[in-house]
Amino acid sequence: MSDIGQSVNQFIVETQRTHSSAADDLTGLLNDVISACKKIANLVNRSSILGLEGYASSNNVQGEHQKKLDILTNDVMVEHLNWTGHLAAMVSEEIDDVITISEDYPKGKYLLCFDPLDGSSNVDINLSVGTIFSVLRCPEGIETPSHEHFLQKGTEQVCAGFCVYGPSTMLILTTGFGVNGFTLDREVGEFMLTHPNMQIPEDTSEFAINMSNQRFWEPPVKRYIDECIQGVDGEREKNFNMRWNASMVAEVYRILTRGGIFMYPLDSRIAKQGGKLRLLYEANPMSFIIEQAGGVSSTGRERIMEIQPESIHQRVPVFLGSKNEVERVVSYHK
Ligand code: AHG
Ligand code: MN
Ligand code: MN
Ligand code: MN
Repeated sequence: MSDIGQSVNQFIVETQRTHSSAADDLTGLLNDVISACKKIANLVNRSSILGLEGYASSNNVQGEHQKKLDILTNDVMVEHLNWTGHLAAMVSEEIDDVITISEDYPKGKYLLCFDPLDGSSNVDINLSVGTIFSVLRCPEGIETPSHEHFLQKGTEQVCAGFCVYGPSTMLILTTGFGVNGFTLDREVGEFMLTHPNMQIPEDTSEFAINMSNQRFWEPPVKRYIDECIQGVDGEREKNFNMRWNASMVAEVYRILTRGGIFMYPLDSRIAKQGGKLRLLYEANPMSFIIEQAGGVSSTGRERIMEIQPESIHQRVPVFLGSKNEVERVVSYHK
């Protein structure tokens, strides 16, 4: 049963009841993640008032200059999740190593990978940012998980989701039975089901890519974008529109709502690092959501969720969204 207006908590409990194969004991963990996201929504919303804009003095493991809010939102996630007994360990964009659970607290059977603040270059200009998360099972018998226990294919994910802190705060969730969208009702402090069973149209005439990197792209990407830009008189015989939010959560939300293709391809500038977006806490959870909504997600050369990860901060090229467009750009790579 999925009724518009249902709270996210009721929705999760009922999903577990109706699907006997649903992972058990997820409700508690998801409630912890949801509490953290509500706290982050509040911090992001009030960041100017609280003096939280601008950069910190540190870099993260990927060499990015951290925003103050990158660090604070990471802390919120850890503080909401390390003591509740649902997790065995965590991996975050902002922390070099695996985040272990203190001996003072019980350990749970899940692992969590997260990007606490996605699109953080947007935070000082009042555009959408978000939080992305992916839930994996902790391998049996492992008391203190380390790097290698997180190196599971995206197909092993139990649950994935993201929150967008935009004009509305929204939560998008999949546990492998479709994709559902919830809107935070600030008056009651709960996420309510507003977008049941989200489906991505197979066709689209809207693409998202950072065009300023055009000179670094590989030939298949250049060809695909050239053909889109030629419009109605070119190969594709139709006009295309372009959007670039520089915030993957906002792009994926748009694609879930009206279709589209999002690309952060491999390019000569970032080839050595394997791409821009991170596999465990950006590409895999977004791929799970996109596929569950009927879309496709690929590196251009393989299905993202079938990549065997080699390190926790590994990066990959990403092409995701409406089936027919993603399949077209993938075919150009062959
Ligand atoms: P993050 O803010 O978590 O580091 O991620 C930013 C990502 C993604 O959200 C977005 O699609 C992309 O980086 C934007 O990159 P450019 O600034 O190169 O356009
Ligand atoms: Mn970052
Ligand atoms: Mn990100
Ligand atoms: Mn981030």
